[in-house]
Amino acid sequence: MNEKSSFVLPPHSESVRIGLAGSEMGNILNQKNMKNRYGKKLREENRKILEISPASPTLRTIMALEFKKLFRTADRVLEIGCGEGDSAEPVLAYTSANMELLDESPEMVRIAKQRLARYKKRVTFIAEDGLSYLERSKPYDFILSSWTIHNFTWEDKVKLFRMIYRKLRTGGLFIMMDKVYPERDKKKLLDLQLARYRYLSKLGMREIMSHERNDFSSRYRMDEQKTYSVLRRIGFHIRVIDRVERDVIMVAKKEL
Ligand SMILES: C[S@@+](CC[C@H](N)C(=O)[O-])C[C@H]1O[C@@H](n2cnc3c(N)ncnc32)[C@H](O)[C@@H]1O
Repeated sequence: MNEKSSFVLPPHSESVRIGLAGSEMGNILNQKNMKNRYGKKLREENRKILEISPASPTLRTIMALEFKKLFRTADRVLEIGCGEGDSAEPVLAYTSANMELLDESPEMVRIAKQRLARYKKRVTFIAEDGLSYLERSKPYDFILSSWTIHNFTWEDKVKLFRMIYRKLRTGGLFIMMDKVYPERDKKKLLDLQLARYRYLSKLGMREIMSHERNDFSSRYRMDEQKTYSVLRRIGFHIRVIDRVERDVIMVAKKEL
């Protein structure tokens, strides 16, 4: 569902083994056999991409500190698109929350599992597409997502936002960090980030440039006004917490 143009959902899902042991295996739910826009080359260069993205350390820490202010013991927490665990790590470090960490890529889940080994008692991993999982999940108090939703087409973003709203308890919070372009200087901010990719391998640079340019197309790009007005129409009350260049962190609340 997060693939560009002609992607069609497979008629049935398949279980995948992702090399986790014992009871942890039980935490890995069925995996939809679908293509992920965060392709192999990007996954290989993910660490460097994060390190040369200025929003990465600041907004992640702010996400964790904001979460800490709002979290109550026993709240149910899901992260959609956990990747290697970089966004979950500060949340786990700053709070005592138990988290369900979901990613469509079993490979990312495997890396996150290693990276977050010291928190293993508080983490459950799910290797599945976010939307398919939410369709049958129980309600949550918090749904977090960092640098993932830009991968969805606008059609799928709207489906996902609606589903997140449906799956939050009343008073529940959706905290999103992502590329939400301001109304002015969009292209300048894109170019600023593209220039930093010169430090990647040739292939990595080619793939991330094409990924970023697609993200910037009207099919994918999250502009401030559009993003906030879609979320408000769904029923969320939005608080924008901070911005670094083109990245934003916001808290969207499902009110009574
Ligand atoms: C750029 S990484 C972000 C990872 C992490 N949250 C962070 O902030 O560094 C985006 C992640 O979203 C995952 N992803 C993409 N489409 C997804 C989907 N439909 N459902 C769940 N995860 C998805 C990718 O596999 C990738 O790990």
